[in-house]
Amino acid sequence: MKKFLKIIGFIILGFGLIQLIPIDQSQKPIDQKAKFEVVENTPPKIVNLLKNTCYNCHSLETKYPNYASIAPISWVINGHIKEARSQMNFSTWAATNPDLQRSMLQNAIDALEDRSMPKQSYVANHPEANINTAERTLLANYFKKVLDSGTHKLK
Ligand code: HEC
Repeated sequence: MKKFLKIIGFIILGFGLIQLIPIDQSQKPIDQKAKFEVVENTPPKIVNLLKNTCYNCHSLETKYPNYASIAPISWVINGHIKEARSQMNFSTWAATNPDLQRSMLQNAIDALEDRSMPKQSYVANHPEANINTAERTLLANYFKKVLDSGTHKLK
């Protein structure tokens, strides 16, 4: 029993100590002109959908829930966001090279159609990201329209 209490004590202590490791969830400055919705002149309805379903991971406008600051959950969340931003970042759209933009748009269409995005684990905790089939199609069709537009069409 004594040994058991000792182990529990160490676990609690360890949990307390990992909270002291600094994590960076600060809001980075955003170049307003470089944002996807500004560059592409995205209709407000689509912007709303994107904000609810993708921007928490794929932009610099991440809104962290309270539990996101508790280690080790915070490490997992920060890792996800870092990876998501490296694959597609709606906040730095203007600074993204045109070939990459095209492949991101195509991947986004595929991800919406095969339902791999938004991630299921995320939707479970964010009901606003639980988009229905019509909204999914709306987003995919919008990305297709952007892909076919003058700026992104292959010459
Ligand atoms: C919970 C965070 C999260 C949300 C929300 C999210 N993504 Fe992702 N996304 C990721 C991560 C992490 C990756 C990196 C690869 C992986 O884990 O699948 C990724 C990868 C991608 C990729 C590149 C890889 C691929 O699948 O082709 C695209 C495109 C993408 N996401 C689009 C979207 C779109 C569009 C939305 C909104 C409809 C969205 N994501 C919502 C976290 C997220």
